[in-house]
Amino acid sequence: MAIQRVLTGITTSGTPHLGNYAGAIRPAVAASLKADVQSFYFLADYHALIKVQDPARVQQSTLEIAAAWLACGLDPDKVWFYRQSDIPEIPELTWLLTCVAGKGLLNRAHAYKAAVDKNTAEGNDEDAGINAGLFMYPVLMAADILLFGAHKVPVGRDQVQHIEMARDFGARFNHIYGGSYFVLPEAAIEESVATLPGLDGRKMSKSYDNTIALFAEPAMLKKQVMGLITDSKAPGEPKDVDGSALFQLYQAFATPEQADAMRAAFAAGIAWGEAKQRLFDVIEAEIAPMRARYNALIADPARIEEILQAGAAKARAIATPLLKELRYAVGLRDLRSKPGGASAPAEKPALPVFKQYREKDGKFYFKLSHANGATLLQSKGFENPREAGAFLAKIKAEGKSAWHALKTVSELAELAEESHVLDALEAIFQDAIEVI
Ligand code: TRP
Repeated sequence: MAIQRVLTGITTSGTPHLGNYAGAIRPAVAASLKADVQSFYFLADYHALIKVQDPARVQQSTLEIAAAWLACGLDPDKVWFYRQSDIPEIPELTWLLTCVAGKGLLNRAHAYKAAVDKNTAEGNDEDAGINAGLFMYPVLMAADILLFGAHKVPVGRDQVQHIEMARDFGARFNHIYGGSYFVLPEAAIEESVATLPGLDGRKMSKSYDNTIALFAEPAMLKKQVMGLITDSKAPGEPKDVDGSALFQLYQAFATPEQADAMRAAFAAGIAWGEAKQRLFDVIEAEIAPMRARYNALIADPARIEEILQAGAAKARAIATPLLKELRYAVGLRDLRSKPGGASAPAEKPALPVFKQYREKDGKFYFKLSHANGATLLQSKGFENPREAGAFLAKIKAEGKSAWHALKTVSELAELAEESHVLDALEAIFQDAIEVI
């Protein structure tokens, strides 16, 4: 089966709670471990600016969310884990898409419409207090998705319209500029994923102020669990699992056997205090090891920053070449290139390519292959794909002086005649390489 790309953004505007964990983080980490997927998870901090204009909070939330995902087992060597604002190609693509996006379609976006309806209901000007970021939100999100050729985007129901818009903008762009530049993404709604109830029994959500923090210290977690609202049935009275927030929370953290035992205990009239103690125990058992990792990460922001920087390099290895192609497609071109029609250049000649791969020795390599398949150079083996990816990104970013970046990969394992390598680099970057 072909490799599927799965991509999701997390807006950095709050502190992760148990609902985020069970509904998003846990299933995403599990999905990222499958063999035939490439997973892209990013911190959507440009999106956060639309509603949070408190810089300290944006920074703190970015730190906490990054630490939470890593603590919950996301492996940055296996997935693409990066911060949106480290990828300048995202805002650049946002503009290219803005210029093909129908304004009428954006007028109908749910979040924007809800804000307009609220203004109208209150007798205000329809756009009162609405920033243009909220209006443009779906275009930024489309850029996030289209830039990486995502096939599937796991989202909640409230986001499905945004994925449809991304398809619309991508299809328009493909049509106008006559090429298949973009994969058209699909929303993936996980029906089986737990939506957790909050402390008051309604859906756990920051907007209801009923959340249980994911990494609260055990004493605090216990206090919150003990404060969960239940009915007033006395100990010894049989209790109903249907509609019980306590039971639903328990089930989200328990094994099926534990859940069966709890079901029986409900029927036998377990006291609420005892049931809450058992709930606390299952949550604590799952969360405790992650909390330890989380606390260690939060105490070392430099480590997180480093992981995000490496993630950005790995993501840009995909984004930078695509943007180059898109700029050409729309006519943002080197003036020395021969003016073409509205569409992309016909029949591009085969170019030499950089390839990244893993060898039997378990190490990660990249090589430069001639259009005819011959290997022009091969890197040394890197211990992890992040290092290899970061190097490759650096080379791509350096463009015509790539040669100098390449020569700093000490001990190139294999190198064809230097002039052939230079010719290849020149063909890729469409510019002369300066050999100093
Ligand atoms: N809008 C999403 C949310 O609020 C976050 C997000 C930003 C996103 N960009 C994305 C989700 C791209 C999926 C794909 O939940």
